[in-house]
Amino acid sequence: MDQLLVALDVDTEAEARALADRLRGIAGGFKIGSRLFTSEGPGIVEELAGRGDRVFLDLKFHDIPNTVAGAVAAATRLGVWMLNVHASGGAAMMRAARVAANEEAARASRPSPLVIAVTMLTSLDEQALTEIGMTDGMATQVGRLAALTESAGLDGVVASPHEIDIIRRRCGRQFAIVTPGIRSARDVKGDQRRTMTAPEALAAGATYLVVGRPIIAAKDPRAAAERIASECRSALTS
Ligand code: C5P
Repeated sequence: MDQLLVALDVDTEAEARALADRLRGIAGGFKIGSRLFTSEGPGIVEELAGRGDRVFLDLKFHDIPNTVAGAVAAATRLGVWMLNVHASGGAAMMRAARVAANEEAARASRPSPLVIAVTMLTSLDEQALTEIGMTDGMATQVGRLAALTESAGLDGVVASPHEIDIIRRRCGRQFAIVTPGIRSARDVKGDQRRTMTAPEALAAGATYLVVGRPIIAAKDPRAAAERIASECRSALTS
């Protein structure tokens, strides 16, 4: 299922490769985040991208524009399909990311990766937001950051499924919304706070779903991915 991106949140290339091999054909892509990247480096990114998998490099860059531009150029050279930055890094940082991705992709004669921005982590709730001094409330904060992301020329945002509506209203139908925090009633929520089921998130207007533990920690990851995909398909056709 094209919209289903599986988070390869494991420590070793061997585990990531084994999961990718089991899930290829059901997953629409694989997300590689800071855990795997920090333990194993870029080899696994290049390997999966090289064999035609869509790789979302989820390193959430957040630094001065020049540094982020260099990191985005390096990620583009690895052949990633999508990468992200933090929207709270500001408009200049996001524009620098966009330019770096486009220029590096043109140099390598490949399509520019999708560049998206994290609005607010899905593990944060209203209380956590207040603790870090953001007193406007989650919806206002997410809407503001999504609009800033769009005006900086990025392709979309990462956001909780609960904020899809406000983002769609501000940013339109073409803007990609990537939603982690996907849990069914039977899943353990873990550190996620603002969750929804996969069919609910798609019905609400998500472009891509990021699912980690409900698939990769399942006894049979392929069966778990198939179950999510079939729940989504029946929801989309009903
Ligand atoms: O295991 P789980 O399904 O919670 O995995 C969600 C994935 O999405 C994790 O890799 C996490 O780092 C990532 N993510 C998130 N919230 C964001 C951005 C990324 O949970 N706002």
